Amino acid sequence: MASAPIIVLANAEIRDEFIMEGMQRLRRGASAGDVAEFIACAVEDDPEEHTVGYGGWPNILGEVELDASFMDGATLRAGAVAGLKGFRHPISVARQVMLRLPHVLLAGEGAARFAIEIGAERRDMLSPEARAAWQQRIAEVVQHEEEDAITLTVRALVERRGSDTMNVIVRDGVGDICSAVSTSGIAWKYPGRVGDSPLIGAGNYCANRYGAATCMGLGEAAIRVGAAAQAVMLMRLGWSLEAAGREVVCQLSTLLGESNAADHMRRADWVRILLMDAAGNVGAFATRPGLSYKVQTADDPWPITREVVCPA
Ligand code: GLY
Repeated sequence: MASAPIIVLANAEIRDEFIMEGMQRLRRGASAGDVAEFIACAVEDDPEEHTVGYGGWPNILGEVELDASFMDGATLRAGAVAGLKGFRHPISVARQVMLRLPHVLLAGEGAARFAIEIGAERRDMLSPEARAAWQQRIAEVVQHEEEDAITLTVRALVERRGSDTMNVIVRDGVGDICSAVSTSGIAWKYPGRVGDSPLIGAGNYCANRYGAATCMGLGEAAIRVGAAAQAVMLMRLGWSLEAAGREVVCQLSTLLGESNAADHMRRADWVRILLMDAAGNVGAFATRPGLSYKVQTADDPWPITREVVCPA
């Protein structure tokens, strides 16, 4: 029997070397889950990636609050953390939520308590560069010393500093698919803001039998259309990957067009969705042109960068 196609599908911002090392592990027989976690951890450690892990942009108070989720397509088990502070690898904590608890999502203090109990490595996640950028932004938006966090957040968010996200979908040699998502969320967000990344169904969904989807960009939009689960459910209903991606992005575009009138979303105005179907076909779709993604199969010596489809 021919083995299943081995694939790593990732957002274009992930370094080739991380994807290539992940592929090497898959060729040697590693599981999709282990490789998805490995790649996510590598990105979380990268100080130059300012929307994931160490060095991620902080919230309006200067605290790095991290969201992550992990889903196993063979069993539909999932784990996630939201607003986790002070731990090196949110994705690993998310995976352990899946493996050790009868829950899917832990937030804030509970997530931190769990991270301590499992011995997760602590780290101050605010890099000097991220601290300096935050201090500069605060200096730009503060007009009176007594202003509250609501006022400051709304003013600060008019400048978009990314809600890019670490997205990886991995298919291993036995045909299992796992998806991992990790982010520091929108820069200068209101404390406690949770995006789509830790919400199974919004920013992450994965089922061996139908396919997988992960999102990046404005989490509020992905949440409101249930983007990841909806794309996979359309494939479950027999839609092609291309048709499912276009349909979800059209819904997101409509929503964003309406939301762009509202001040709080004026600059954070796109969503990109990565898709893999049950046969291992891949694609990516976005509400604006000019974005790309990376894919590597077992036959490729390195990841190939492809343009996303932007339905007109
Ligand atoms: N997509 C990441 C976020 O909005 O937090």
